[in-house]
Formats: sequence, C-alpha cells, structure tokens
Amino acid sequence: MTEQAHFTRVEPERVARLLADLARVLTPGQVRQDAETLAAYGRDESDSGEFLPDAVVFPDDTAQVSAVFKRCQVHGVPFTPCGARSGKSGGSLPLRGGLVVSLERMNRILAISVEDLTAVVEPGVITGDLMRAVEERGLFYPPDPNSWEFCTLGGNVAENAGGPRALKYGVTRDYVIGLTWVTPEGEILQVGRRTIKGVAGYDLVGLFVGSEGTLGVATEIILQLIPLPRRVMTALIVFPSVLSAARAVSAVLAAGILPRCLELIDDVAIAAIVHRGSFAFPPGAGAALIVEVDGNAQEGVLAELSQLGAICDRQGATQSLVAQDDSQREKLWAARRVISPALRALKPAKISEDIVVPRSRIPEIIERLKAMGAELGLTVATYGHAGDGNLHANILYDGPAQRPLVEEALRRMLLMTVELGGTITGEHGVGHAKREYLALEQSAALLDLQRRLKAFFDPSGLLNPEKMFPAPKRS
Ligand code: LAC
Ligand code: ZN
Repeated sequence: MTEQAHFTRVEPERVARLLADLARVLTPGQVRQDAETLAAYGRDESDSGEFLPDAVVFPDDTAQVSAVFKRCQVHGVPFTPCGARSGKSGGSLPLRGGLVVSLERMNRILAISVEDLTAVVEPGVITGDLMRAVEERGLFYPPDPNSWEFCTLGGNVAENAGGPRALKYGVTRDYVIGLTWVTPEGEILQVGRRTIKGVAGYDLVGLFVGSEGTLGVATEIILQLIPLPRRVMTALIVFPSVLSAARAVSAVLAAGILPRCLELIDDVAIAAIVHRGSFAFPPGAGAALIVEVDGNAQEGVLAELSQLGAICDRQGATQSLVAQDDSQREKLWAARRVISPALRALKPAKISEDIVVPRSRIPEIIERLKAMGAELGLTVATYGHAGDGNLHANILYDGPAQRPLVEEALRRMLLMTVELGGTITGEHGVGHAKREYLALEQSAALLDLQRRLKAFFDPSGLLNPEKMFPAPKRS
C-alpha cells in the first residue's frame, strides 16, 4: 500500500523501561535497535509499506519467549512475533511499534520419528529444511508454500499456510497435532498430542493454527508425516486461452482424478516468466497448467497423467511437456515460483490476492476478473492453485495515482468472490492487508465473537495489535 495507515505508537519511555528490564533476561546480542535491523523488520512481502519496531529481540528458548511476553505486559509495550518476514498480509508488521519478537534463532529440528511418523520442530526451522530432512528418511511433509526455501514453520503455523500440494494433501493445519503455546501473558501450555488420533478437550491446536500470531507463539510444533510417495510425474500443459485452461481444471476434477498439484498460469503470468527469462513457453501459449501426479506404482502414475492429458486435449490443450528427470521438474517449478516476484517487474506496483472460489466457479471468476480489469483499465494476472479453487489474482498498476482505482478493483474482486460462495483469503491470511474486508464474508456477530476470543487470551491487546478484524469505528 502506498498510503500508509497511521497507528498510535507506543511511548518511547515505556520501551526504554522494557529494554532495561529485558537486560536481565536476554544477552545484549539478543536485542537489536540499529537502523538497518529496524528497517528490515518493519517490512514483509505484503506491499503494506514500512512500520518500524522500536527494537527486535531474538529469544533462544520457550522460557525466554515467555519472559519477554511477561515483561511486555508489565511495561505496556506492544509486541509482534515474526518468522522469515515472507508473509503476504502484513501479519508480522509491528503496526504500533514496540517489540518484534523474532523466532528465527529457535531453528532446531528436535526429533524425527520414522516409527511414529512424526517430527518435533522449533518455529524458526525453514520449511524446506524439514522437507529435506524427512525425505531423507522416506517420509513426507507435504505443505509447500512457494516460499518454502526461506519461510519458517512457525510462520506457516501462524498463517495456516498452503501451497500447490494442498490440493491432494491439505494445508499446515492438517499436519500439526500438538504445540507448546506461549500465551500473550507468557503462560506456557502444552496443547494437542503426539498421537495421530486424539479427541480429548477442545481442539485448541485447530484454534491456534491460522490465528496469525494474534493468540501467542508456538515454540515447539509436533507434526505428523506421511510416507514419501515413490513416484512423481510433472508436466506443463499449454492452452490457447486462460478460459480453456480453467475449464480443463474443472473437467479433470470432475473426472475423479486427484493430481497432487494443478497450478494455473495465465497469459500475464506467462509474460512475467518470459520477461524474467525463467522459462521459454511455446509460441501462442495463452495459459498453462502445471500438473503433478504421484503414487507408488509407476504404471498407475503414468496412467493417471495420460488420462489427465487426454482430458486437457479435449479442452483444447495445444502441447504437453512432461518433465523427464528431476532437473526438468525443478525447472518447471522454478518458473512457477518466480511468478510472484516476476510480476513486480511488469508494472511499478501490484497487489496480490489469494481468493478461493468453489472449484466449479473457477472459469466464471477468471472471466469476471478479466472483464473487471478491462472495464477499469487495470491489468489483472491470475495464477495459482486452481485445483483447489485458490487463485492469486494480482492487480498490476502504475503507482499511487491509481490507488483509488485499485481499491475499487480489490473491493469488487473480493465481493464477487464472496458472491460465488468463496472466501477472501485461502492461504495468506487477513493480517493487516485485508482486515477491512473480513466483514464482506463474516457477520457482525461472528466478528464480535472472534474479538472476544482474542480479548480472552490477550486482555491488554498488546500482542500483534491492529490485525485481522476491522478497526473499531471512531465516532
Ligand atoms: C504463490 C504464493 C504467492 O503461490 O502464495 O506463489
Ligand atoms: Zn500460493
């Protein structure tokens, strides 16, 4: 966002008293206040602008996290947890200043059990590091946000991150079975379980996962794993238009095939990839699907891919490129992963959404988004996890002067999503970026209930303020 919202910042005297007190808990190296650090922790990947913290602290363990939270309460200083700063909704931005509590030093994989099919990790573990560590043991951690090479599991838990493989394997919440939860008041709770089944008590793990860092921090995360599928095949299928590709997505799913990934790349996203020199699409490519199927038997996987290819052909696919080895697979996925940054190079500014519609409505929403872009004179790029109805609709624009028009486009986009039975965010969270839009989809009573839940866990409201729920109306 170019027009930065303003929030009341915490008084400097409170921060000074807190920092003096924290010197009893943290070493000097665990507290940073230099300009470079403050600038780095005042931003994320949401294009929300810069919100500087007063200090960034780097606790090493659960006890330190708890001690920091307790002292923030005593001194009345807002505090905001943060992982890799790769969030796309502003969830880790310290909007009222105060402390950013970075979990990045807590980055140990504490256990991987092949017998139990579980792992225990600290929140600062890079998602890709866990994926590789379990795959070496024949196990699989499927949630694969496109930032997996640098995002952290703590951030994934906070946002309930998804990714391309969510189509077949689900999202982060489907793998988290237990947590060590430090509440906003610094209490340390063990919630959930280590077993695959278990129904004792309320599902507090379910509440915590996806709470966007507004209910506390998970300092240990227990994950369930599954056996690593032995065969994977990946293909790029090219279509003349985005509509034919979208229809192919619906046709594949209606035919009872469940690939593990079914990713859509529209004409604008193709242009961005080509512009960046990341992949050479065949001439005339108006859209593409990246499809990936997996299983244990080669014949089964092959049969599924060819059935899928035949369905796409009937929808007008012009070409299929099947990756022949790991390096070709990686090239296809690298092209997909580069879309988000590559779109930035096409226009000076963009906003990136992660709307979800029922899968049968994908062709309709794509048509309506393109029509809206044409009407308002804005470029709309649509790509992403089409198989589960989760689309990254991006509005590219020229800069601040177009911002009111972009706000109008965004409002229309989210409204049409909700009208089609969808939701305003499928994986990036509400955070700061979408808080004013939550009321499009949730009733006043539901918003109120959630505000009361937040106040129950965080009566002072000091943890990660100004997030998720619309700002109270000032009279
Ligand atoms: C992606 C991110 C933007 O799927 O969620 O590329
Ligand atoms: Zn995504």
